[in-house]
Amino acid sequence: MALRLKFRLIRTFVITTSGLIVYTLADKFYEPVLKPALQLLDPESAHDFAIFAAKHGLVPKDKGKDWSGLACEVWGRQFENPIGLAAGFDKHGDCVDAMLSAGFGFVEVGSVTPEPQEGNPKPRIFRLEKDRAVINRCGFNSVGSSVVSERLRKRLVHIHAAQPGVVGVNLGKNKDTEDAKLDYEKGVVAFADIADYLVINISSPNTPSLRNLQQKNQLADLLEHVIAIRDATLKELSPKGRPPILVKISPDLTDEELADIVTTCMRLSVDGIVISNTTIQRPHGLLEQQVAMQEGGLSGPPLKNISTSIIQKVYRMTNGRLVIVGVGGVSSAEDAYDKIRAGASLIELYTALAYEGPALIRKIKIGLSELLQRDGFQSVQEAIGKDVFVSTSQDGMRN
Ligand SMILES: Cc1cc2nc3c(=O)[nH]c(=O)nc-3n(C[C@H](O)[C@H](O)[C@H](O)COP(=O)(O)O)c2cc1C
Repeated sequence: MALRLKFRLIRTFVITTSGLIVYTLADKFYEPVLKPALQLLDPESAHDFAIFAAKHGLVPKDKGKDWSGLACEVWGRQFENPIGLAAGFDKHGDCVDAMLSAGFGFVEVGSVTPEPQEGNPKPRIFRLEKDRAVINRCGFNSVGSSVVSERLRKRLVHIHAAQPGVVGVNLGKNKDTEDAKLDYEKGVVAFADIADYLVINISSPNTPSLRNLQQKNQLADLLEHVIAIRDATLKELSPKGRPPILVKISPDLTDEELADIVTTCMRLSVDGIVISNTTIQRPHGLLEQQVAMQEGGLSGPPLKNISTSIIQKVYRMTNGRLVIVGVGGVSSAEDAYDKIRAGASLIELYTALAYEGPALIRKIKIGLSELLQRDGFQSVQEAIGKDVFVSTSQDGMRN
């Protein structure tokens, strides 16, 4: 008995001490050990392991100080910096605080479906190594809204321990639900009082018929409904205020479809638009031709210009009156800056994080601060849309 107790004590001591050592050395441990190990695993196991590492304090914290010009206010919410984690990484709200402390200014949890569902069979995530890109056909694997909402609520109970930062929730629908409106309604009810913003995701290519919800009449109907539900759910404003409602769109729309979506969003006073989800296109020049044949949505650098040009179109169409969250192929400060100059107020990324690891976040923030200051901007907000209404003066300089 005494021997068993002794063994237990020793085991507890060893686990705790090694945990503490690893935690303390997380900065040094991630780059040489964790990052190469993750690349050896298949993409989904690597992702699951990254989430596990984040949950257990193994992701290095960003200890640097951001340039004050990166701070911005959008929808009355304060963002310490405009670089956020895109939906799909923390689908279940497992590691929000770890990702905020790794340096993101905001995190978009989800997509969350009302009921738990498995998603598509594995394998469903594929690396296009040479293109630094990914194809996924996850199909909304989700633990369901009650589990995620409880996690986020718990975090708010201990708000003093929680990392400062904005947390949005991205809503999806269950595969078998016939009436999509009902699922988004459930999502809004579950998260309206705890999310800093809500995203109506109607653009994942991996849920049958989902993208049809982007069509003019269906979209108007859906958005009117969710906005009414949000307002009814929060008749009395919660301390955080009503969460803004955003729509996440596909990069595979025709110009006419895009114009219809933008007109509808403006008419219904939607608060913002996330541009964009993954693409079903396979742009010319992909190096990993074999993997590119996999079904699913492509993300990473091959998506970059496609999404940036849509950001520009939407900024122009709306005269900058609709908040744009720019996402798609951002893997450097230059990429983020291009999207801001094209009209994005906030930036998100995912695929580059999977390839580069969390040190990328600081790198982008430093680079972006330098680019903004080089061009004479006092703050990131001054640069939004600067490439869109460019008139060329006689000396050919941008103004
Ligand atoms: C594995 C994976 C899963 C994703 N899951 C979701 C999701 O559940 N909901 C969503 O709106 N977007 C999802 N996305 C899309 C991303 O949020 C983002 O729009 C897209 O990947 C483009 O950004 P990136 O090039 O920086 O990755 C997913 C992307 C990847 C790679």
